[in-house]
Amino acid sequence: KELDKSIQGGELFFTLVLNPNPCDDKRHRDIWSKEKTCDRLPKFLVVGPQKTGTTALYLFLIMHPSIISNSPSPKTFEEVQFFNRNNYHRGIDWYMDFFPTPSNVTTDFLFEKSANYFHSEEAPKRAASLIPKAKIITILIDPSDRAYSWYQHQRSHEDPAALKFSFYQVITAGPRAPSELRALQKRCLAPGWYATHIERWLTYFPPYQLLIIDGQQLRTDPSTVMDEVQKFLGVSPHYNYSEALTFDSHKGFWCQLLEEGKTKCLGKSKGRKYPPMDSECRAFLSSYYRDHNVELSKLLHKLGQPLPSWLRQELQKET
Ligand code: A3P
Repeated sequence: KELDKSIQGGELFFTLVLNPNPCDDKRHRDIWSKEKTCDRLPKFLVVGPQKTGTTALYLFLIMHPSIISNSPSPKTFEEVQFFNRNNYHRGIDWYMDFFPTPSNVTTDFLFEKSANYFHSEEAPKRAASLIPKAKIITILIDPSDRAYSWYQHQRSHEDPAALKFSFYQVITAGPRAPSELRALQKRCLAPGWYATHIERWLTYFPPYQLLIIDGQQLRTDPSTVMDEVQKFLGVSPHYNYSEALTFDSHKGFWCQLLEEGKTKCLGKSKGRKYPPMDSECRAFLSSYYRDHNVELSKLLHKLGQPLPSWLRQELQKET
């Protein structure tokens, strides 16, 4: 354990001290080509977690005239996924190539959304070392609903384990369950340990650089959320989302309003149709996430942030 700690400490020392941000180092910049510029790095990241409404937020963000996303990566379902996993080893040039050179560095806001960053062990440390001033946006919904939506997502992508096992089997699998089931369970449940993951981001980023969005409010009242996002980012001009978004009753969600009353909604894979979670699974997950939710409420309290309504409801439930 001690060795582990000192290796982790060593890695942090290497990342932040011995290997400082090349964008801050004149010696690096002096030998770069003229075209290479650290302005081609994001000013903010939407870090997830998956299934909380990250694509809706992405669609709304790119409607803003000063907000520009990365170009899509064909390998990772459009997301760049640089700071988690192995793309990181492809280096800074690989990453910067996803971004345009901003025409106005002060007013243009480059960003990327990679929903797996949220629960990644490495992403916060790596992001803080390259883009320490970046703002971080995360969205939270009831972790039980997130887990269920994720399971449905895996089934539609024909994940063999998700097709083979019921949701109840996935969430209740014990230590002796088959390894494919255990692996699926971990991927399904672990992103919902919200407080643990947010604490990790807060080890590397100060609280004022972090925005926590209530995903339920993003779903029901996106223009209020987008006002909050614009204020948090300090982006201008102010974009009036209450005029630019409309509720599409066919889709059952808020969508972009186009000319002649047409709408642009997210595709079928966002806002999927599936049966509601049964009460047994709901009760199991409520109890599974209870301690995590208590920790989240303490953390939000410490940060001076209001509790989302789903969290208040969960905390009121009897154990
Ligand atoms: P479901 O498909 O389970 O309903 P993500 O983009 O992070 O994968 O999240 C997908 C979820 O976003 C959807 O989950 C849906 O509930 C939610 N969502 C919120 N606002 C939405 C919107 N305006 N259009 C479509 N889906 C939206």
